[in-house]
Amino acid sequence: MRALILKSNTACIENINPRSPASSGRFDVILDFVLECLYGDKSVRKDVTIYAVLSGCGRTRTIVFRGEELPYIETEDDLLRLVLSGDVQILDMGFEELLEDLSRRGFRLFCLIEDGKDVDKVELPCSNVGFIIGDQDGFTPDDVIIMRRRNIEFISIGPLPYLSWFCCVFINYVLDRRCRDS
Ligand SMILES: C[S@@+](CC[C@H](N)C(=O)[O-])C[C@H]1O[C@@H](n2cnc3c(N)ncnc32)[C@H](O)[C@@H]1O
Repeated sequence: MRALILKSNTACIENINPRSPASSGRFDVILDFVLECLYGDKSVRKDVTIYAVLSGCGRTRTIVFRGEELPYIETEDDLLRLVLSGDVQILDMGFEELLEDLSRRGFRLFCLIEDGKDVDKVELPCSNVGFIIGDQDGFTPDDVIIMRRRNIEFISIGPLPYLSWFCCVFINYVLDRRCRDS
């Protein structure tokens, strides 16, 4: 199983305006991430679970998008409708708790960051692996402290800053290629 963790410091569930996800703490970043990362051409990636950690309001909560349970969805509007319908799991779990939970379940975690170690030089496990990606503004200093404290490895896909959804697609591509025969 592959876990993709998007840490948003602006979005939150309580604050979604269905008419304008972009002005709802950039909830559009979450929607794009899930659409690009979980859905292929007419198919859902069953090997991927996305955790959207939403810290934009007081209490952090985490939406879980489990590929093996979700229907095929094509548009942002349909995905937003699914979120608002309550048909996705919402965990009362903050960032550190989620990382602790994944580690306890045997996941090896990596954080994507521009100045991390070149991904080409990093050995990645083919399963039980998780990648943490920041939102449109990147990580807060507290996020970084939490990850450093847990000895999470920082890896880079290049010196340029890419959009969150692209990082997710790219890391899926890297793992798909490396793990083709496993
Ligand atoms: C739009 S970028 C954030 C850019 C922001 N200026 C910053 O200071 O981090 C969103 C996230 O994608 C990931 N990311 C973007 N470019 C990357 C790169 N070249 N290598 C690794 N991760 C990257 C990081 O997790 C980043 O927090």
